[in-house]
Amino acid sequence: MKIGIFDSGYGGMTILRQIRQYLPQYDYLYLGDNARAPYGPHSFDVIYRFTLEAVESLLNRDCQLVILACNTASAKALRTIQMNDLPRFGSDRRVLGVIRPTVECIPELTKSHHVGLLATAGTVNSGSYTMELKKTDPEMQLTALACPMWVPLVEYNEYDSPGADYFVKKRLDQLMLLDPKIDTIILGCTHFPLLMRKIVKFAPAGVRIVEQGEYVAKSLVDYLKRHPEIESKVSRGGTCQYLTTESSGKFREAAAVFLHETDIKVDEVKLPEC
Ligand code: DGL
Repeated sequence: MKIGIFDSGYGGMTILRQIRQYLPQYDYLYLGDNARAPYGPHSFDVIYRFTLEAVESLLNRDCQLVILACNTASAKALRTIQMNDLPRFGSDRRVLGVIRPTVECIPELTKSHHVGLLATAGTVNSGSYTMELKKTDPEMQLTALACPMWVPLVEYNEYDSPGADYFVKKRLDQLMLLDPKIDTIILGCTHFPLLMRKIVKFAPAGVRIVEQGEYVAKSLVDYLKRHPEIESKVSRGGTCQYLTTESSGKFREAAAVFLHETDIKVDEVKLPEC
C-alpha cells in the first residue's frame, strides 16, 4: 500500500518534496488533476466532486492514506469526504488535509496574535483557516486575502520574472494595510512557496512567512507514529510514481521546476474513471 498525495495541479509537489525528505522510506503515488486546475475559482460542489474523484482514484490504486496536498480541496472537500465517502472504502483508509497541520504551528510563531493568510479565493471564502486557528487560541485574529494572480504566475513559469514583483508587492501591501499588527503570514496555497524569494523581498522586516510543507511533513511523521495500524500497511520501497489528467510531457516539465527532478515515471489518467 502507498501514500497518495493529491493536488489540483503541480503545487502539491512542494508538499510531496518535504514529506519525502522526512519520510523517504515509503512508496508514494502523486496525482495532479492538471486538466481541471485551478480549483480555486470553482464552487464548493465542483471542488468536492473533483476532489472525490481524485481520492477514489488513489484509493483504488492501493493508497492506504491520501493527503490532500491542496488547500482549496482541504478547505472545501476534506470533511465531507471523511464523513460521507471514506467509509465505503473500509475502516482502515484515511484522508488527511493540510490546513490543520499548518495552523497548529502558528501559536508558537506569532507574538502579536495577528496572523495573515494568503491563499486562493476558494480557501479564503471557505473560512476554514479562521475556524481552525480559533481552535488553537480564540484570541487569534486572522486576516485573509485571496491572490488570484499568484497561481497562474507559478503555473506559467513567471514566478521569478520582474512582472511577478508587481502582483506580489500589491497583495502584501494590501494585507499589511488591512492589519498592520500582522507578524506571521501563512502561505495557504501549495503554489506560493515558489514565489518565496519575491514574498520575502516585499514583506515588512520581522514578519515571518510560513511555508506549510515542513509542518505538513512533521505532522504526518507524528500521525504515523500514533497510528501503527496504518503505518504498518504502507510499503517501504522508497518509490514515487506520478499520475496526471493532463499530458505526461507537461507534467515532467513542471516536475523539473517544482521537484528539481527530470527522471520521473508519469502516467496519464482520466477523471472520473468510469
Ligand atoms: N493547489 C491549490 C491550493 O493549495 C492552488 C491551485 C488551485 O487553485 O487549484 O490551494
